[in-house]
Amino acid sequence: MAAGSASGVIVRLDTVDSTQTVAFALAERGAADRTVVVADQQAAGRGRRGRIWQAPPRTSLLASILVRSRLPQTLLATLSPTTAVATAEALSRVAPLAPRLKWPNDVLVGGRKIAGILLESRSIPSAEPILVIGVGINLGQREFPLELAGRATSVALETGHPVDRDTLLAALLEEFDTWRARLEGEGFGSVRERWKSLSDTIGRHVTVDGISGTATDLDGDGALLIDAGNGVRRVIAGEISTEMAPGDTHAARR
Ligand code: BTN
Repeated sequence: MAAGSASGVIVRLDTVDSTQTVAFALAERGAADRTVVVADQQAAGRGRRGRIWQAPPRTSLLASILVRSRLPQTLLATLSPTTAVATAEALSRVAPLAPRLKWPNDVLVGGRKIAGILLESRSIPSAEPILVIGVGINLGQREFPLELAGRATSVALETGHPVDRDTLLAALLEEFDTWRARLEGEGFGSVRERWKSLSDTIGRHVTVDGISGTATDLDGDGALLIDAGNGVRRVIAGEISTEMAPGDTHAARR
């Protein structure tokens, strides 16, 4: 079923392999910018770095947003932190939560992951680069598989109640449109500042891809800047591990 929204079409499906795959297939058939695919369940949900994204049926918001981008190539990757900011803002609008962001794009509550974002591109013949931004938000899970226990959480676990999926989707798309417009209109500056104010990473001692040091800033393209003691290093992608640094006042629980 496809329903029109203020800014685009929303395609609602029961079970799919991955909403990402469906969104790319729609893009190949000429679907418009900001077409959204939402599913109740995924048989082959994709996470970052080749991982599987699993969620029991109807427990989660599983959405993919098709973007035909007007951004310069150098800023395309910033759509990922932009969506992380939008997700955190949307969650805090619909539930009494204070989400934080872990570089590159995890959304945490109480140090546990509540949402993840996956930015993918495909070379589909088109005037503009085509990207699909996947957002998975844990809503109704009351427990997680052993391998995720202690590292994952949901709105239901944090607040005692799941939040209505359509309410959260509407908030997410509003926030996405707002932050994307800022990114496209003004560049990465205001998104970057908001990302940093929500960050659970900046100021921490981190290790990523063998580089250890204090995470000090986000670069203008979304790369993480790490003060490694012998100079500042840029990391453009990777899996971060964080630990308490001397004087670090954040609660570390992951
Ligand atoms: C991550 O590894 O943190 C990113 C997870 C992204 C999961 C979402 S769920 C909706 C969309 N469809 C997918 O197959 N993946 C993304």
